[in-house]
Amino acid sequence: MRRPVIAANWKMNHGPTEARAFMAAFLASYSPRQDRTVAIFPPALSLTTIRDALAARRDVLLGVQNIHGAAKGAFTGENSAPMARDAGATLVLVGQSARRRVFGEPDESTAKKCALALQYSVTPMLCVGERIEQRDRHETEDVVVRQLRAGLPLLSKKAIASVLIAYEPVWAIGTGRTATPADASAVHDVIRRELKSLCASSDAAAEIPILYGGSVTRDNAKSLLAAPGVEGLLVGGASLDAASWSAIACT
Ligand code: PGA
Repeated sequence: MRRPVIAANWKMNHGPTEARAFMAAFLASYSPRQDRTVAIFPPALSLTTIRDALAARRDVLLGVQNIHGAAKGAFTGENSAPMARDAGATLVLVGQSARRRVFGEPDESTAKKCALALQYSVTPMLCVGERIEQRDRHETEDVVVRQLRAGLPLLSKKAIASVLIAYEPVWAIGTGRTATPADASAVHDVIRRELKSLCASSDAAAEIPILYGGSVTRDNAKSLLAAPGVEGLLVGGASLDAASWSAIACT
């Protein structure tokens, strides 16, 4: 059984001072474990604070929440894949719902970002998920398949096997409404099937972790993680408190 990936997306919360205090509390209660991978996606300004707080600990991975589609240049306010890597990130969220909806990022930009990230040894976690009206129209499968096909076309079949996928139904993000484990399993199954057609082999596709995200809490983490096909969790609000995050990381 593959070890689950438990990831925290802090969004625009916890600057360096709060991040330092958070890490002191989290690391005091979370001992390194072989049976899971834990990752934190802080705001870019807090990344090096967390990296420094980790000191010799190698059991917590770091990621950024976004990168620009170019490696460098006159893009005021942006951060790039090589900068993220230099600051200690080995992961990047691509296409998280806030990027798509609030910042209007089109599918094409997810493709560019996935390709550029891998070029600089930063692993993309491509986020896909349907809006409530799409769910009501029974379009969930079409939406996630379209987002997968749009996000991965610049990657070789071999490279696709190294990405991570997060299924985050938009209607569940930050709303307190969670997909049932059965619903999550059904969509993860669709994603796995599509990955099989995009990868060089079924075995390669089977290696790609598919996380669930959307109102995960310490109370529902266990049942979601136990759902067939759910190989990790992407946690927003409930990852902001060190005690809650420790409990979820230990699920
Ligand atoms: P949430 O956010 O857990 O607060 O719903 C999840 C996410 O956006 O990654």
